[in-house]
Parts: sequence; structure tokens; C-alpha cells
Amino acid sequence: MNGTNIENALCTAAEEFEKAFAKYFEHKDADLKIVSDAMRYSALAGGKRIRPFIVNEFCKLFGGDVSASMSLSCALECVHTYSLIHDDLPCMDNDDLRRGKPTCHKVYGEEFALLAGDALLTYAFEIIANAKALSDSAKIHAVKLLSSLSGIEGMVGGQTIDLESEGKSIGIDKLIKLHLLKTGALIRCAAKLGVIAAGADENALESADKYGEALGLAFQITDDILDATADESELGKPVGSDKENGKVTFLTFMSVEEAYTEAKRYADMAREAIGLYEKSQMLTELSEYVVKRNK
Ligand code: IPE
Ligand code: IPE
Ligand code: MG
Ligand code: MG
Ligand code: MG
Repeated sequence: MNGTNIENALCTAAEEFEKAFAKYFEHKDADLKIVSDAMRYSALAGGKRIRPFIVNEFCKLFGGDVSASMSLSCALECVHTYSLIHDDLPCMDNDDLRRGKPTCHKVYGEEFALLAGDALLTYAFEIIANAKALSDSAKIHAVKLLSSLSGIEGMVGGQTIDLESEGKSIGIDKLIKLHLLKTGALIRCAAKLGVIAAGADENALESADKYGEALGLAFQITDDILDATADESELGKPVGSDKENGKVTFLTFMSVEEAYTEAKRYADMAREAIGLYEKSQMLTELSEYVVKRNK
């Protein structure tokens, strides 16, 4: 491998994740084929698998084993994939390319893409309920967290503000709220699910929350920058989508350079939240990678 330490670690972790995740997509009922195919198509289309990486790294950080956190990683990636399928629909961002492939609705039609997203969302909770390596109390905690951070007070809330703000002028405080919810919520969720899998305490959850919140903001600021500046074939999704949709992004308020400085500031905050823990090297490197990434 020729990448940096973190790129190699992400790549190895993604391969391990892929094996565990694929096992959840072996539905055989021929009558349901169109939606089970659509679910599999989007779920196994690649992706950086950053959220699973965060779940598993936080579990390891607090002394847990990946065998305990992997089902939570899979559940969260189901929710993330559902959010992407719906985000790309014509009624939302109307995008044709995702993870380097035609979007789910382009291949399976809008109605089945909608259903594939619905099925992935509910599947996440089925996966948690059936997780063999977790105690009942860990499962309840995970369900509480994932449901609240995916819903109206989390990702869906952020998508609501995102869509309502199209073509309007909103302040930067509202934009930060939007980003904290639409992207930050699931990244915070990733960090905290790892802590739950490890069975760690409130202090650990608090550190995970701080890390996830700051990393989520850094991540979405970089996403905004890449939407305006990246190479489409490398990014794997359309460039210029935000402008076309009249989205308010960090680049509405500042230059690309200033936005990078902001992203870096939040990445530093993420690093500080876990700096006291041994074995936090990978998560520190991840915070740097999130700002430097080109996809
Ligand atoms: C894209 O997330 C959607 C955002 C929240 C910005 P990722 O950049 O993690 O997408 P994949 O999973 O790697 O495709
Ligand atoms: C999406 O934000 C966040 C989600 C909750 C899916 P974007 O709309 O900016 O994500 P991309 O750029 O399409 O991946
Ligand atoms: Mg969007
Ligand atoms: Mg989008
Ligand atoms: Mg974007």
C-alpha cells in the first residue's frame, strides 16, 4: 500500500467491514427482488466507510473488540446509505451519481429507491436487535441513540433545514446548526456507538460526543468545498450540485481557503477531545484526513 498511515488503515478497515456488511444483503425472495437488489446495490457500492471506522476505533479506544462493535457499524452504515439514497432523489438534491455509480433511483426508479431507503432504515434496528455480541442494555442504548440522531432532532432535522434554506439567505449560525444535524448527528452517533459497544462510561461518551460533533462539522465543511472544487471522477458524485440547487454552504460565507481554515479548526477540536486517551492515534489521523481528503 502506498497511502498514508490513515489511508491504509481506512482501506484495511473498509475491507473487513465490507465482509461483515455483505452478509446482511443476501435476501432471496424473488417477489421482493427489485427492492432487495436496490438495497444491496447502494449498500455495497463502496463508500469510504468512515462511520464504521469511527464506531470500531472508538470501541477499541475504550478497550472493546471490533467483534462487539461491528453490528453497530453495519446498522449505522444502513442509516447512512438510506440517507444518501433519499438525498439524491429528484425531490431532494436530484443527483445522478453516487459513489462513482448511477444513483439508486436512476437504476431502480424513484419508487423503489424510496422503498430501499425505508427498508435500510428499519433494517438498522433489526440488525441491532439481533446483535449477538451485545448485552440487552447495550442494544437499548444503541437504539435510543441511533433513532434520535437519525430523526427530526438529528439527520432528518438537518435535511429539513437544508431543503428549506435553498435559494434563501440564512445566517452562518443557522448553517452550522444545519451541518451539525445533517452530517454531525450520524458522525457523533458513530463515535458514541463505539463507546457503547465497549461498555465504557459517561466520560467516554462525553469525549465521543465532542469528537463526533467537531469532526462532523469539519467533514461537512470539506464536503461543501469538494462540491465546488473536486474532480467528479475522483469524488464519485456530481460537482456543482450545491450551486445548482441554490444551497447555502460554507462557501456562501467565505472563500475556499477560509473554509479550509474553519474545517481545520474543527478538526483540531476533535483531536483535542480524545488527546488524553492512549491509542487515539488513528482517530487523530482521521481528523486530519477529513480535511485533506479529495473524495
Ligand atoms: C456523504 O458522506 C454525505 C455527507 C454526509 C456529506 P460520505 O462522504 O461519508 O459518503 P460515502 O459513504 O463515503 O460515500
Ligand atoms: C447530505 O449532505 C447529508 C445527508 C444527510 C445525506 P449533502 O447533500 O451535501 O451530501 P452529498 O454531497 O450529496 O453527499
Ligand atoms: Mg443534500
Ligand atoms: Mg446531496
Ligand atoms: Mg455535499
